[in-house]
Amino acid sequence: MDPREQVWRKMMKDFTEEQQTLVVQQLSALSLVDEAGEPLSKAQIKKQEKKTIADAKKKVKADQAAIEKAKEEEERRAEADSLTITLDETLPVTPLRLNKLEETAEGTRVKVQGWVHRIRWEGKKLAFLTIRDGFGFIQVVLAGDMCRIADAAHLCREATVCVYGTLVRDTRAKQGKLGSGLECRADYWRLVGKSCADFINIVTHESNPDVALDNRHLVHRGDRAAAIMKLRNQLMIAFRAHFAARDVTEVTPPTIVQTEVEGGSTLFTLQYFKETAFMTQSSQLYLETMCPALGDVFCLMPSYRAEQSRTRRHLAEFTHMEGEYSFITFPDMLERLEDMVCDVHDGLWEKHAELFAALGAEKKTLQRPFMRLKYKDAIEYCDKHDIYKDEETKEKFVYGDDIPEGPERRMINQLGRPVFMTHFPAKMKAFYMERDAEAPEETLSVDLLMPGVGEVVGGSMRIPDEETLLEKFAETGLNPETYYWYVDQRRYGAFPHGGFGLGLDRFLCWIADIDHIRDVVMYPRTVGRCKP
Ligand code: 4AD
Repeated sequence: MDPREQVWRKMMKDFTEEQQTLVVQQLSALSLVDEAGEPLSKAQIKKQEKKTIADAKKKVKADQAAIEKAKEEEERRAEADSLTITLDETLPVTPLRLNKLEETAEGTRVKVQGWVHRIRWEGKKLAFLTIRDGFGFIQVVLAGDMCRIADAAHLCREATVCVYGTLVRDTRAKQGKLGSGLECRADYWRLVGKSCADFINIVTHESNPDVALDNRHLVHRGDRAAAIMKLRNQLMIAFRAHFAARDVTEVTPPTIVQTEVEGGSTLFTLQYFKETAFMTQSSQLYLETMCPALGDVFCLMPSYRAEQSRTRRHLAEFTHMEGEYSFITFPDMLERLEDMVCDVHDGLWEKHAELFAALGAEKKTLQRPFMRLKYKDAIEYCDKHDIYKDEETKEKFVYGDDIPEGPERRMINQLGRPVFMTHFPAKMKAFYMERDAEAPEETLSVDLLMPGVGEVVGGSMRIPDEETLLEKFAETGLNPETYYWYVDQRRYGAFPHGGFGLGLDRFLCWIADIDHIRDVVMYPRTVGRCKP
């Protein structure tokens, strides 16, 4: 035998003859020259031989472990196949939805159905499951044969299970979302739906936002995403309750329309049978038509903007809470907005502090009246506080400039409280806004700015008379014939009125201290994203 081979075989004395021969073949095939064709030194050759043997040892060890595991699994399966657990149909049972856990008495035998949120094994005969049913969470304890039946091999995250057991108070179960300390000691369970074991690897804390968005349907099952959706639900309930208490009627305007509201550049166009139509930018014009019929109205509907903006507060489809009030003045409108924001904020905190706590959100201090800042004073504020139109060139804002997201946020964060920015120049704003009689180049308009987010509300008084409206159509190039029904509001009983649109998604970001709008929307639609 080649003396080198003798040395190698010595180094592999724990291997079988067959394994040794395989590695010897690999070692003999190792190149003795480097990439440049130069012969390797003795030390280099030794190093590469050592590495080959070390790798082979690792593989042998891993193969051995896999064989043992497969054997164990085989034995477990054989045992599992011969094991069955039976449901005792004679025992009383109460079906339990987990939001009712706290009010269910200890000792009650319950039936719980849900998904395995977490799982912890203690040995082979004891498993602690956190079960989530969408309504809440519970700790379930499986012991003995229940851990060894065939289905137990499928107990992994997101598997669906049906569990029967008795509620027992155990302080060790009283943690976080398991709140009450009541756990379910199972006497029977069965697998309802398998789950793939790769669930835990699909989206992790390190995943980039696109991976998380592609898998948003799975992300929703996580604690934080679900808490946000629950808060969103409560927010919509709170807005509706606010309006119901003030006799404001909810209406549901169409979202496929043929009129623009906020400028043609952000319209999504679609083929509507043989005509062209748009996805609505705002339901405002339709709301205005309902005031003479219903007094004050509001709607909670989607609006669409084909905005190229990739910012943390822009969506292509957003939830728009819009209100329209008849016979009000501009100051009345600001007061109503204040009332709405404070009522909804305070009510939510009073009833759902636990949802805010789950998100780590802080209660806001809302002092009424909110600060009022005219647009022209905001321009002056930026000038005095080094807020520039262009940070690099230090170019300053001048009257007539739109204050974009970044500088606007800098300003509002400095001010540190809700601010009504009012009286925007007519040139900057939409066609329907009424001018201020005392400063005709300005409109009776308002943006409500919130720290952390910026603009969450945009509103105004509306041009009340036909003549001025037609002038505005001529000036902006809009066809009055398309707007015949809107003009009719001025023809048949013109009335002073005004209203607002609140971005529900942005409001939720503000109230819950959430940084990015995509995190508060079920399935965000943004530039380049229309899935899932
Ligand atoms: O200021 P905007 O464009 O006002 C209107 O649409 C009016 N017609 C509303 C009315 O008076 N009835 O939009 C109102 C609010 C904004 O303040 C913002 O919160 C939200 O709608 N919004 C958006 N939210 C997310 N993504 C977008 N692309 C948004 N555009 C507007």
